Amino acid sequence: MKKPMIIGVTGGSASGKTSVSQAILTNFSNEQIALIEHDSYYKDQSHLVFEERLKTNYDHPLAYDTTYLISQLEELQQGKEVAIPIYDYTNHTRSKETYCQKPVDVIIVEGILVLEDERLRDMMAIKIFVDTDDDVRIIRRIKRDMSERGRSLDSIIAQYLGAVKPMYHEFIEPTKRYADLIIPEGISNLVGLDIINTKIASILKENK
Ligand code: ADP
Ligand code: C5P
Repeated sequence: MKKPMIIGVTGGSASGKTSVSQAILTNFSNEQIALIEHDSYYKDQSHLVFEERLKTNYDHPLAYDTTYLISQLEELQQGKEVAIPIYDYTNHTRSKETYCQKPVDVIIVEGILVLEDERLRDMMAIKIFVDTDDDVRIIRRIKRDMSERGRSLDSIIAQYLGAVKPMYHEFIEPTKRYADLIIPEGISNLVGLDIINTKIASILKENK
C-alpha cells in the first residue's frame, strides 16, 4: 500500500467544508477514508478560566497547534493509530476525551486555515477551497452557533465583526490561490462533488 493521500478542504466559516467532506466520506468505507478536523487541534486552554478563553482569536493561525496535527498525520502515514483530541466549542477548549483513528488510504483534513500553513499544504495531494458568499455564511453561522455551540446572537455578531471577518480576509481568502479546485456553494455543487469523488476513486484503484 502506498503512503495515504491527504486532501485539504478549506473555506470560510460555515462555507460548507464539513458538509462537503461528509458527502465525500459517504462514497467510501471507513477503512478507506477518514476526516480529520483542524479544529480538533485548537490549543488546549483548560489552564485558563472561561472569561479568558472568550478573549482568544479563534480565527488566527496561532490559535491552532498545527504542529501537533502534522505529527499525527505523519504517524498515520507511517501506519500507526493516533488518539485525536476532541474539541468543545461550548467551553472553548479541548475536552478530556480523544478518539482513535486507524490508518486509512485517504485522509481529508478540513478547516478554515488548512491551506495557510505551508508544511500542511505540502503534505496535500489535492487542495480544495469551498467558496460561499459572506452573507450566506454569516446567516448559517448565526443559526449553527445558536443551536449547536451555545452562543447568543450578540456574541456571534461581535465575534464576526471583531475576528471572523477580518481574519477571513487576512488569512483564509488569500489561500484560495493554493487551491487545485474551487467549489462554489459546497454540497449544492453536484458537478464539483462528482469530480472529487471520481478522482478519489481512481486514486484508490491505482493504489490497490
Ligand atoms: P463549515 O464546516 O464550513 O463550517 P458546514 O458544512 O458545517 O460548514 O455548514 C454550516 C451550516 O450550513 C450547516 O448547518 C449546514 O447544514 C449548512 N449548509 C452547508 N452547506 C449548505 C448548502 N449548500 N445549502 C444549505 N445549507 C448548507
Ligand atoms: O466550522 P467552522 O469552520 O465554522 O469552525 C471554525 C470557526 O469556529 C472559526 O471561525 C472560529 O471563530 C469558531 N470558533 C469559535 N469558538 C471556539 C473555537 C472556534 O467560535 N472556541
